[in-house]
Amino acid sequence: MNIKQRISEKIQKSILNLGIPTKYLNKIYLTSHAKIGHYQINGIVNISQKLKINALKLSEKIIKELKKENFYNKMNISSPGFINIFLKQEWLSNKLEELITCSRLKISKQEPKKIIIDYSSPNMAKEMHVGHLRSTIIGDVMARTMEFLNHNVMRVNHIGDWGSQFGMIIAYFKKDYKNYKSINPSLKKIETIYQKSKKMYENYQLFKDLSKKCLVDLQNNDKNCISIWKDIIHKTIKNNEQIYQTLNVTLKNKHILGESFYIRFIPNMIEELKSKNIATQHQGKIIIYLNEIKNKKGKPMGVTIQKKDTRFLYSTIDLACLKYRVKELKADRIIYYTDTRQKQHLQQIKIISEKAGYISKKCTLEHHAFGMILSKDKRPFKTRDGKLIKLKKLIEKSINKAKTIIKIKNPHFNNKKILKLSKIIGISAIKYSDLSRKRETNYIFDWKNMLSFDGNTAPYIQYTYTRIYSIIKKSKLKTEQIKGKIVLNKEIEIKLSIKLLQFEEIILEISKKGNPHILCTYLFKLASIFCKFYEKYPIIFAKKISIRNSRLKLSILTSRIIKKGLNILGIQTLKYM
Ligand code: ARG
Repeated sequence: MNIKQRISEKIQKSILNLGIPTKYLNKIYLTSHAKIGHYQINGIVNISQKLKINALKLSEKIIKELKKENFYNKMNISSPGFINIFLKQEWLSNKLEELITCSRLKISKQEPKKIIIDYSSPNMAKEMHVGHLRSTIIGDVMARTMEFLNHNVMRVNHIGDWGSQFGMIIAYFKKDYKNYKSINPSLKKIETIYQKSKKMYENYQLFKDLSKKCLVDLQNNDKNCISIWKDIIHKTIKNNEQIYQTLNVTLKNKHILGESFYIRFIPNMIEELKSKNIATQHQGKIIIYLNEIKNKKGKPMGVTIQKKDTRFLYSTIDLACLKYRVKELKADRIIYYTDTRQKQHLQQIKIISEKAGYISKKCTLEHHAFGMILSKDKRPFKTRDGKLIKLKKLIEKSINKAKTIIKIKNPHFNNKKILKLSKIIGISAIKYSDLSRKRETNYIFDWKNMLSFDGNTAPYIQYTYTRIYSIIKKSKLKTEQIKGKIVLNKEIEIKLSIKLLQFEEIILEISKKGNPHILCTYLFKLASIFCKFYEKYPIIFAKKISIRNSRLKLSILTSRIIKKGLNILGIQTLKYM
């Protein structure tokens, strides 16, 4: 139930009735945060200037037309030509009734599209760190949102299972699988070896040459290289799988389609790009020059897709991957979740693919870039010795902090209960504190804020949910047993209703822009309005049964929307806390 859309349709009808050309329809828009009124119509001034008529007069005419409809209680004009709308109680209550009887809260299903969501996608041979958090959880919200809207979502974990790190690690073991297997390194150890070999790569030419050769050999299916490579990937995936599970992220092993998968398509693709005169050979390398992007010297930017020693690069793989996603997987929309530093990389891939005809008109490509997580001194969030913080450590710390708080708040809870709650609350706090930030901007990580039971935090919203849950439980009534219509006598009840009816607007906006923070803000506001309502007016103890029932229905709807909203954010609700 998208009330904004319903009202917009009425406005469009009125405007057309007035004989205003259709092309002006998109100039009119509704805002829900109007200072005066529940909704405000904007853009009339703009049209009146174009049509050379007085804005106030035009507003009056629109109001006259709108008055033929029955959704409003009051409408007025504020200068120079905004129309403020106060919605009618009965209209709102009818819309709410429709929601209460519908399992998907009257949110319309969309025509299904194939949507590929490329998220998390960590590089192998190391443990996931705090830098992987944003892609993993923001991408997951998008996958859940699009699925809820009826799309055919393909989650893709484009793991970094190819590239120079493997050449170095394999070189470290001198290409000897037996030697590798006798040590049988853990992932932690593999990561240490990777760091050591990276230093060797930078400092010793012989080692550098060997590493490069190992990568070429790997590319050519050398048995020893493949065995070492497989073991490293197996160990990394196993480690990551646990993190996804703990984080309540929907990525499973079946969603892995890593970089190595595309190697098989690359030789042909390079031939094709050469024959189309898109790629050229230059000093032994194969390069694509792009007029659209200039390099530092102001010349067309060159993107190398094959090195002198035949190694492929990150960009080469992404090109082959994009082609595969469009041509073979028949994607309608592809969304990448990586940090802002990959903006140029993806821009290049997009331009080259357009030139090569790899993306069709009907497929859209989007980069939902995100900012960095910083510590209080505004530097990248790292450990004291400058290392990236492991995601596992961050999760552990949050759960422990949650445990301490829960123990203080509920000294009578047994250990099992405390453990269960602290896991859910600790994880939710990490996720919410990230998801509630604007995607594109950097933010400062703050433990104190995260686990607070007040303000815009997960525990606050979860706590509101438990309050409503206990009200409903106390009433001993099932939804079907609650008779009578919803009546909205109090201003706060109207405010709550409008918020409830805005849920679909929010979901639709996320589906377009991939910006979960608006759902967080929404849920926080909804929870705050409910708390005000609950603190001011009795619900189960209302004197009249009809009022009690109406308020119970509002409470049920609030709890269902909070539950669904948190579920889309990948956050669990609790019955007590
Ligand atoms: N593995 C990359 C990284 O850690 C992210 C991959 C994103 N997806 C892609 N198709 N390039 O930065």
